[in-house]
Amino acid sequence: MSASGTYNLAPFSFFTCASANPPVLAFCPMVKPDGSGKDTLANIRETREFVVNIVSEEISAQMNLTSGEYPPEVDEFAVSGLTPIPSDCVGAPRVAESSVNMECRLTQIVEVSSKPAGGSLVLGEVLRFHIDDRIVDGFKIDPDRLHAIGRMGGPGSYSRTRDRFELTRPKA
Ligand SMILES: Cc1cc2nc3c(=O)[nH]c(=O)nc-3n(C[C@H](O)[C@H](O)[C@H](O)COP(=O)(O)O)c2cc1C
Repeated sequence: MSASGTYNLAPFSFFTCASANPPVLAFCPMVKPDGSGKDTLANIRETREFVVNIVSEEISAQMNLTSGEYPPEVDEFAVSGLTPIPSDCVGAPRVAESSVNMECRLTQIVEVSSKPAGGSLVLGEVLRFHIDDRIVDGFKIDPDRLHAIGRMGGPGSYSRTRDRFELTRPKA
């Protein structure tokens, strides 16, 4: 959400966990070809908060709709039909249709490159996790219920996460 209250939503595949204690995640908004920055980064600089929502197969079409390079005044919740619901700890709303929402407070922005196609690393501490009870088995998220997707190479190629395999970690 911008400082003036406009909602903003966009997919980011350059995304990972950076720390489990405290829980900190990281993602990377890139610099656009014309050298300008993305709305997501501008909003986070202004408000120092954001929400990360995990994308499942069920909302992949809506996720794709949010990825258009719309001007800052466009609310991608309205564009995609996804539903904003209030967060507990931050001003930005979360996505009702997503089964995992992570409310974050900015800890650090590392500008890696300001050149076109460069990018920044945004680090945020997760203040609150929201996990839909329907995807939880015991105290763990069941991947067969989460239906996470992955972004593959190219502009529009994705994978499902149904075909998994196990490996035993070596003992030192
Ligand atoms: C599946 C998918 C993954 C994406 N991942 C990234 C990413 O990791 N970093 C990035 O800068 N843009 C990524 N994009 C493009 C942004 O979503 C797109 O530039 C969007 O318009 C940014 O919105 P904003 O200006 O509101 O921040 C991705 C797009 C898609 C469809």
